[in-house]
Amino acid sequence: MQFTHLHGKTYFIRTFGCQMNMHDSERVSGLLDSCGCLEVAGPEDADIVIFMTCCVREAADTRLYGQCSSCKSLPPAPSGRRVVAVGGCIAQRDGSGLLTNLDNVDVIFGTHSIAHVAELIDAAFDDGEHHVRCEETDSEAATTMPWHRAEQYRAWVPIMTGCNNFCSYCIVPYVRGREKSRAFEEIVDEVTGLVRTGVREITLLGQNVNSYGRDLFGSPRFADLLRAVGETGIERIFFTSSHPKDLLPETIDAMADVPAVMPQLHLAVQSGSSRILKLMNRKYTREQYLDLIDRIRDRIPGIALSTDIIVGFPGETEEDFEQTLSLAERVGYAQAFTFIYSKRAGTPAAEIVDDTPREVILDRFNRLVHVIEDSAYAFNQHDLHTTVSVLVEGSSKKDPSMLLGKSPKNQTVHAPIPDGYSIDALIGKIVDVSVDRARTWYLSGDVVSDPR
Ligand code: SAM
Ligand code: SF4
Ligand code: F3S
Repeated sequence: MQFTHLHGKTYFIRTFGCQMNMHDSERVSGLLDSCGCLEVAGPEDADIVIFMTCCVREAADTRLYGQCSSCKSLPPAPSGRRVVAVGGCIAQRDGSGLLTNLDNVDVIFGTHSIAHVAELIDAAFDDGEHHVRCEETDSEAATTMPWHRAEQYRAWVPIMTGCNNFCSYCIVPYVRGREKSRAFEEIVDEVTGLVRTGVREITLLGQNVNSYGRDLFGSPRFADLLRAVGETGIERIFFTSSHPKDLLPETIDAMADVPAVMPQLHLAVQSGSSRILKLMNRKYTREQYLDLIDRIRDRIPGIALSTDIIVGFPGETEEDFEQTLSLAERVGYAQAFTFIYSKRAGTPAAEIVDDTPREVILDRFNRLVHVIEDSAYAFNQHDLHTTVSVLVEGSSKKDPSMLLGKSPKNQTVHAPIPDGYSIDALIGKIVDVSVDRARTWYLSGDVVSDPR
């Protein structure tokens, strides 16, 4: 289809939230590129400004209002007219209701409607009216959309959309819909195609990849997918997220057996107290989670474990919190994303009365951050005086003479750019780094191999 108003227009996309939104933005970019639009680095140079929004916590939610309003003070758009579009999870949640508070928004498109973004923006240029589309209920059309990848050497590969878990605090199932797996062959073919174009690392994406395939004919399992993707020639496979209740022994076996699956696992625990886990509707206990961790470590020694933890769930007592602290100490996470509970209207947890003072929650949060920092530091110490292979991502912003990249355990690694190489020649290459410094959030050392 020809969208006559789009050809030659410039666009800018700002993305908030998780990798799902990042990937959706790559699809929106791909679609706009195919309509003859050109991506620019900032909103001031853009005829089309798109916000891909997140509402998982209140802070992400409120940011949109400031960002949208700031578009009003931009210099005039290059073409003389600027269209502002809002997509992502807030758009899906609020639909045309957003127009009440955001008077400069022209287009609103929901999480399942990204395949329509070009026609909506074209129509807005054409008639100057508001165009809202949030009624689609699945994102299947998006998987065949063109794809504009920011990086040539690694890619996100969504394997499923939506979530069926309804953790009591979480808005995601309401804005992303029910779980829907992509066809097994379609994913394997996509990864094969990516390998041919030079991609070396993929991250398989889903809100709970462990329930992949349950809705497909023949119920292929996530373990089968890992094994099949491991045969494509891809060098590094990561995946996120894994719900502990659905991590099967065969998935642990596949992780151990498939050389391309990296020794890293993100396994959100959310709380160390079985009482709070029940209120969260997580469907596992502290003991079951710890038992799972032991089984993973037995099979994959040295694996880097990361997690998500929520502090201040309504009614969390000091005793509950201490259970979280002791669980984090026992597991020894390499990394953790720690969040203060944020009340989300429409979720069951929003109904629970909570009288924990804010300063108590902040104090708990800081205590947890210290435990995580200690365990991340201890974890990185294991790699001191070893050699790690590093996929180079770019140079350090603070010191452009240093390259930075990721180890197989997803640690950030810094090293001086070797003599005779430019950073551009190294991005996407793998180098061996001999580690002589291990800090809380990074390793550093010298490159000891040719780039490959
Ligand atoms: N599906 C993923 C999983 O279960 O591992 C997580 C997806 S969610 C985008 C990322 C994290 O946000 C969750 O693991 C949780 O820790 C956090 N989160 C979700 N809802 C929250 C809320 N209402 N308040 C604070 N943190 C929240
Ligand atoms: Fe939210 Fe739970 Fe689904 Fe993760 S598994 S997206 S935390 S409802
Ligand atoms: Fe946010 Fe939506 Fe992801 S709410 S965390 S962008 S699924």
